Amino acid sequence: MSKFIITGGRKLSGEIAVKGAKNAALKIIPAAILSEETITIHNLPQIEDVGKSFDLLTDLGAEIKWAGTSATINTKNINKIELNPKLADKFRTSVMFVGPMLARFGEVKFPHPGGCVIGAGSRPIDLFLEGFKAFGAMVKEEPGKYYHVKAPKLQAAEFFFPLVSVTVTESLMMTACLISGRTILRNCAMEPEIEALAEYLNKQGAKISGAGTPTIIIEGVAKLNAGSFEVIPDRIETGSFAIMAAATKSAVKITNCRPEHILSLLGIFDKIGVAYEKGRDWLLIKETKELKAYDVRTHEYPGFPTDLQSPYVILMTQANGTALIQETIYDRRLIWTDMLSQMGANIVMCDPHRVVINGPTKLYGKKLISPDLRAGIALVIAGLIAKGTTEIDNIYQIDRGYEKLDERLKKLGALISRVD
Ligand code: EPZ
Repeated sequence: MSKFIITGGRKLSGEIAVKGAKNAALKIIPAAILSEETITIHNLPQIEDVGKSFDLLTDLGAEIKWAGTSATINTKNINKIELNPKLADKFRTSVMFVGPMLARFGEVKFPHPGGCVIGAGSRPIDLFLEGFKAFGAMVKEEPGKYYHVKAPKLQAAEFFFPLVSVTVTESLMMTACLISGRTILRNCAMEPEIEALAEYLNKQGAKISGAGTPTIIIEGVAKLNAGSFEVIPDRIETGSFAIMAAATKSAVKITNCRPEHILSLLGIFDKIGVAYEKGRDWLLIKETKELKAYDVRTHEYPGFPTDLQSPYVILMTQANGTALIQETIYDRRLIWTDMLSQMGANIVMCDPHRVVINGPTKLYGKKLISPDLRAGIALVIAGLIAKGTTEIDNIYQIDRGYEKLDERLKKLGALISRVD
């Protein structure tokens, strides 16, 4: 496994450009199944899970040309209804292929999606299956092997989400595009990536209204046309780099971003003493003198994102006072914090959903293993702060969501190297 070696205790400086949003790209790609015409996508992040999505789509029979941050996709010749289990169980977002396959072909077979380690068990997909059944599909499960979802004729439906889910909102919204009649989805997630997906599908002829609000209405159409899409900037990269700058007391300019997508973090920055300036597509973090501790509870968008919880925990180890962090979305997303105690952090886990951090504390370099994508970037930030050398193993988890992170951080003056 590859690892990062980081020598900490140095300030960063300069500019870093944000890449296209992983959590937008990983839905736009399977959405290409809804149309038989050519789809063009720009500003794609060059990360592992984008590559896995293309592999899965190619295996189904699609033609893909991927060069750098752009790709064209044509799914006219898809010739099978089974997602290749060897590919689909390697990443969680293979589940995003199911809705479009069902909408286009009326049938799909797929394994339980693998990949992500956070969330209850192996990340349940019960809400996906409930939604497909609401559209009139039958779901058969071969336990431990695959699911088989079939619908001779999908019907428009009214569906109320028992809990807010980003990917299930996106999945049912995509599926409903090709179901004749009016589908109404209530208690939807409101992430910017959902609005971007709806805008993109509407440009292809879909009729979606209300994306970005709790109620989305979709009037089904017979088919979708060709489309061209620019992936929106990654708000979690933006927030991760902003926290990295604040935690290392550095002045860094973050470009190609959308500050209005991280207003929850900027509101907290105002309270804890992080000074910044912002424009439409840039965010300048100024050198932080002193940080104040501040409690955070993760919440669905536009609240504080669970994907910034891990970096924020690191920030609070450098802040004056006591901070309570509450993780309300996932069951296991604070487990990684016990590694921080080894680095010198003063952190107490009250229960699986709450940790209390007393700061500021000095951190010392350690050998660590990155448990998941966002804890991984948090450990990188910890390594940049810590005295001495930090070794982070299993950085495949980081490569999944942060393109060429070591090269980009080196340009900011970080002493980081990749060892294969
Ligand atoms: C999306 O995951 C993001 N992933 C996650 O980012 C993000 O943390 C999450 O939304 C919350 O914002 C992508 O968009 C690819 P959910 P998603 O369904 O949609 C439970 C990252 O680091 N649930 O909104 O899978 C689930 O267990 C990743 O980039 C069910 O119970 O999250 C969780 O507790 C991590 N049954 C809650 O819903 C289901 O069928 C909300 O999760 C589906 C979800």
